[in-house]
Amino acid sequence: MIIRKINENDRSVINEYLTHHFSSQKLVSRGVIHDSSTLPGIIACSDEATLGFILYHVDGEECQIIAAVSIVQEEGIGRILMREMQGITRSAGCTRLWLITTNNNIAAQKFYKSLGFKLVKTHVDAITNSRFLKPEIPEKDSEGVPIKDELEYELWV
Ligand SMILES: CC(C)(COP(=O)(O)OP(=O)(O)OC[C@H]1O[C@@H](n2cnc3c(N)ncnc32)[C@H](O)[C@@H]1OP(=O)(O)O)[C@@H](O)C(=O)NCCC(=O)NCCS
Repeated sequence: MIIRKINENDRSVINEYLTHHFSSQKLVSRGVIHDSSTLPGIIACSDEATLGFILYHVDGEECQIIAAVSIVQEEGIGRILMREMQGITRSAGCTRLWLITTNNNIAAQKFYKSLGFKLVKTHVDAITNSRFLKPEIPEKDSEGVPIKDELEYELWV
């Protein structure tokens, strides 16, 4: 497996995944729309297969993870990508790595906690506002859990 920067040839696989799993390549957090097709990122690949990727956005001394995805899950790919992401954050001159996940995403919450991230804020009902920007966000997830709150996690690097 190799980890490398995303290049333009990777975009179609990533866009296809995001459209399928997140309704579109438009990603919304904290009231901001991010176009995933233009974000920088890193990708984990094995031969021709994409195993996972992270898209991020640098703003001053902060680096926000916009999407963290393991296509092959629970095999340590996410952990390896996140370790690489910490190095990128430091190299970009940032001290805070942060992200948003949602109240229903229990696997992601366990994942980020296991990597040392701290839950610093719960933005109650923020997804209601996000739906104005991205009406495709469903009211409930596939298990019927309402998608309502944005959970903000951070790690100082
Ligand atoms: C969240 C996600 C990125 C985790 O990636 P992953 O490659 O499966 O995670 P890893 O195998 O590296 O696991 C690292 C640690 O996270 C935790 N973890 C990961 N998946 C978990 C799950 N489904 N349930 C509980 N804990 C989990 C474990 O503590 C694990 O450590 P361990 O293997 O020593 O027990 C992956 O589940 C995913 O792509 N989900 C769909 C997209 C998503 O929701 N992304 C996050 C919001 S943008």
